[in-house]
Amino acid sequence: MISPAPTNFAAQLAQATSALHVQAERGGVIADLLRGRGTIVSYAGLMRNLLPAYRALEAGLEQHRASPLLARFVRPEVYRAAAIEADLITLGVPDQPLLPEAVAYEAAVRQAAESDGALLVAHAYTRTLGDLSGGQILRNLLGRSLGDVAAHLAFHDFPAIADIAAFKAQYRADLEIFGTAVADIQPVLNEAVLAFGHNIAVSNAVAAQFVVSA
Ligand code: HEM
Repeated sequence: MISPAPTNFAAQLAQATSALHVQAERGGVIADLLRGRGTIVSYAGLMRNLLPAYRALEAGLEQHRASPLLARFVRPEVYRAAAIEADLITLGVPDQPLLPEAVAYEAAVRQAAESDGALLVAHAYTRTLGDLSGGQILRNLLGRSLGDVAAHLAFHDFPAIADIAAFKAQYRADLEIFGTAVADIQPVLNEAVLAFGHNIAVSNAVAAQFVVSA
């Protein structure tokens, strides 16, 4: 039997998005929060404006639960929509305005969930490894922006994941399997670039909407 050629798909995803990752980390409200210059209102604004994309991602994954291509990425233990809804109540600002950038991000995720859903993997990758990597760094710095309420937030807690490093290693291994199974990896790499672009746009728009003091 001839084995499929290795694609190094996980490495290609990281490479395709690495320049954008720097932008995501260093700009917008994410940069404010990393520097301790966010506010409860700006953080809640970020969460409110990521919520529709998470809902679309999680609904899209569930829709493809029976698909051999996507089943590995149907991991409810990383779903974040319920955590965000709870956190918006905890933060006391549940009715933040929904910005056009959030609507565009949600629309992109919905579109990616269409047909065989292969493009959805790019969105799942972006949020899942993001939340389990930079998200965990941000978690430790949030108290500087938010004060005591930071300790009561659910978004950065993954109670159903005992070992985050092991989970990420498995996720990357699953990406490799996907990379050998999918007809063409290039559109998925392109979609990951788009997913990062949407994250940057939301972060920038939230920063502009909820201007923080210098
Ligand atoms: C809060 C600021 C951020 C910091 C400090 C940060 C930091 C990091 C670090 C250190 C890693 C490497 C983890 C590892 O290899 O195990 C990583 C990976 C990653 N981050 Fe971020 N990040 C941030 C924001 C973001 C954002 C906003 C996104 C989403 C657009 C994101 C998406 C990702 C992804 C997809 C990976 C996996 C890369 C790979 O394939 O190896 N990160 N991040």
